[in-house]
Amino acid sequence: MALSRQSVLAARRLAAVASPASGTIAARSLATATSAPAQPAAAPRMKKFQIYRWSPDEPATKPHLQEYNVDLNDCGPMMLDAILKIKNEQDSTLTLRRSCREGICGSCAMNINGTNTLACLCKIDQDETKTTKVYPLPHMFVIKDLVPDLTQFYKQYKSIKPYLYRESYPADGKETLQSIEDRKKLDGLYECILCACCSTSCPSYWWNQAEYLGPAILLQTYRWLADSRDHHTEVRKQALENTMSLYRCHTIMNCSRTCPKGLNPGLAIAQIKKSMSL
Ligand code: SF4
Ligand code: F3S
Ligand code: FES
Repeated sequence: MALSRQSVLAARRLAAVASPASGTIAARSLATATSAPAQPAAAPRMKKFQIYRWSPDEPATKPHLQEYNVDLNDCGPMMLDAILKIKNEQDSTLTLRRSCREGICGSCAMNINGTNTLACLCKIDQDETKTTKVYPLPHMFVIKDLVPDLTQFYKQYKSIKPYLYRESYPADGKETLQSIEDRKKLDGLYECILCACCSTSCPSYWWNQAEYLGPAILLQTYRWLADSRDHHTEVRKQALENTMSLYRCHTIMNCSRTCPKGLNPGLAIAQIKKSMSL
């Protein structure tokens, strides 16, 4: 039965009292709910996802793709939404890393439809006729399902001493200042979230990752070389004076094409090579 105008007004007043900050919105939703005809539920829009599975607990089972179907009408817009929906509602054994769900922590890096990217920044392809395939980052040892072993990656990061090194500090005990121009030199470098998408897209890193540092760690190296406050420039450059750490980069540029943060590790490596000859 339709509510009278007086009842709707009374409901609005009640809602406004119960929730003063959102009173208008609450009252509007109540009025809409009581006056609009019920909408028929949208037909499901089922889409197929094939996800890489492998578990060390089942060594006899070879790595394989497992298929899941998700109703896009009942799912958030990002790939991370779809994968978490599958994990929460269909298969709790599906294993992945994620934390921030907004492109900051770097932990949800994976290969989606052939591209290394962050699942939380990657929109679901809304074409229901196409299957979306999800693999862990390529050419890495797999711990389980979509979780790669990043031990070597972090070991390499540690090896470049990723912190400010100074011989002396300001006499007044205050912070070490930097000009606006010098600070600008860190733009395009400090934003790196160490997701490893670039390094695991680089063929040189695939074949030589025991010794070649790869684009992510080299971009981080340049971040410290470019910092006007750092006094370790020569030591950092000396560590790269060998055939493997830096010079295995052959300017293939997959790294810059794939970076989900829009950074350019290929350019950072070129800058290091240039500075090595100075
Ligand atoms: Fe990730 Fe880009 Fe940093 Fe590489 S440069 S680790 S792709 S954020
Ligand atoms: Fe690899 Fe990028 Fe160099 S893809 S070879 S690190 S330019
Ligand atoms: Fe943090 Fe995707 S969950 S970057």
